[in-house]
Amino acid sequence: MIRIEGGRPLHGVVKAAGAKNAALPAVMASLLTSEPVTLENVPRLLDVDAAVELARALGKEVRWQGTTVVLNGGGELATEAPPVLVQRMRASFLALGPMLARRGEGRMPLPGGCAIGPRPVDLHLAGLRRLGASFDVRGGTVHASARALQGTTVYLDYPSVGATEQLLLAGALATGKTAIVNPAREPEVVDLGHLLTAMGAPVVWQEDRVAICGQPSLGGTTHRVIPDRIEAGTYLLAGAITRGEVTVDGARPDHLDALLAKLVETGADVRVKERAVTVALGGRAKAANLQTLPYPGFPTDLQPPMISYLATASGRSTARETVFSSRFNYVGSLVRMGAQVQVAADTVLTDGVEVLHGAEVEATDIRAGAALVLAALAAEDVTEIRGEVHLARGYVDLVGKLRSLGAEVCVAD
Ligand code: UD1
Repeated sequence: MIRIEGGRPLHGVVKAAGAKNAALPAVMASLLTSEPVTLENVPRLLDVDAAVELARALGKEVRWQGTTVVLNGGGELATEAPPVLVQRMRASFLALGPMLARRGEGRMPLPGGCAIGPRPVDLHLAGLRRLGASFDVRGGTVHASARALQGTTVYLDYPSVGATEQLLLAGALATGKTAIVNPAREPEVVDLGHLLTAMGAPVVWQEDRVAICGQPSLGGTTHRVIPDRIEAGTYLLAGAITRGEVTVDGARPDHLDALLAKLVETGADVRVKERAVTVALGGRAKAANLQTLPYPGFPTDLQPPMISYLATASGRSTARETVFSSRFNYVGSLVRMGAQVQVAADTVLTDGVEVLHGAEVEATDIRAGAALVLAALAAEDVTEIRGEVHLARGYVDLVGKLRSLGAEVCVAD
């Protein structure tokens, strides 16, 4: 468990890690070529390890050096993913596109991942079907086949991050051009586009679509993963909720516009440089309302930590969750800590309290864990958070980074 003695304002500078959600599809992109793909600034996290393990299981040779991973060669890509790896981490499902593109077939267990509502892959499958794939789902496993993938225009009913990435990966080796209308525009998707372009399949963004020019084969490259905007946002909120001052060095302020706008609305002092963001808060925050949306809207991954912050603001705040239907797993724990929070349909409401109190609570997913860590940092006395494995899925050296900011935090049995 993680044990936090709260009530200390955090002060100082932390360095942004590479973005987990950009590293995962980048590892999958390495499956498109037998040449070496070198990824720099990769966060060493459980989810990234699972993706790298999957690449290894499918035939890649993998070499780590610090935060650089080289994914090399291998003979033929395997066409069957070990269920345990896919169930551990949802983004593993992205290996299906490369399998289909390179081998014309693939077997993928339906994915697992965070317990935050139903997370189907229907948009992935409908899109791949448009490129010429066919599917048969038996015993929880997708059996996919395609004689050849043929580029075409695919309209997404919803700008799904995973489906857009899946289609870019498959389109990279399809014949001709694949255009995705209504794509996700998250920075992590754009980063995948940069990687695929560097591997030889140009990705072009237009107002309503993104297109990739498929190639007969792709080459290797070296690619630096973008900084993690969700990790950065979490530390900035830690600065604000503890009424301290935190700088995230290496962050991209242009990826954090929605959060920073909301922080300013609550009275926080926000300062940005080209590659750093500082947030400070002197007194009590003001309430704010928000809704989560696909990028550049407010990120769903920051909704739980933001609510922890607003739980100590003055007045009533609301957050409408439009991306994941049931991302409110953390609310019960916040209530145990003295927050006044309730859920009504797709909206979480909080009437800010002066102080939160330590309690024994449980993290049920990565961002629920982040919400509880933030609440604990602000709370009077000690909070013990079980389920810390979820935090290890998303935050590099969480305890070390928090300590460097002055937090009283340790991992206990
Ligand atoms: C990614 C991120 C996750 C983030 C989310 C939204 C990774 C590894 N994870 O998840 O941290 O919270 O984007 O920014 O990058 N949906 C369907 N059918 C599909 C695909 C998605 O109905 O085929 C629904 C999902 O259930 C969800 C919504 O679309 O309600 C958004 O999902 P999506 O954008 O695909 O998110 P992920 O790629 O799973």
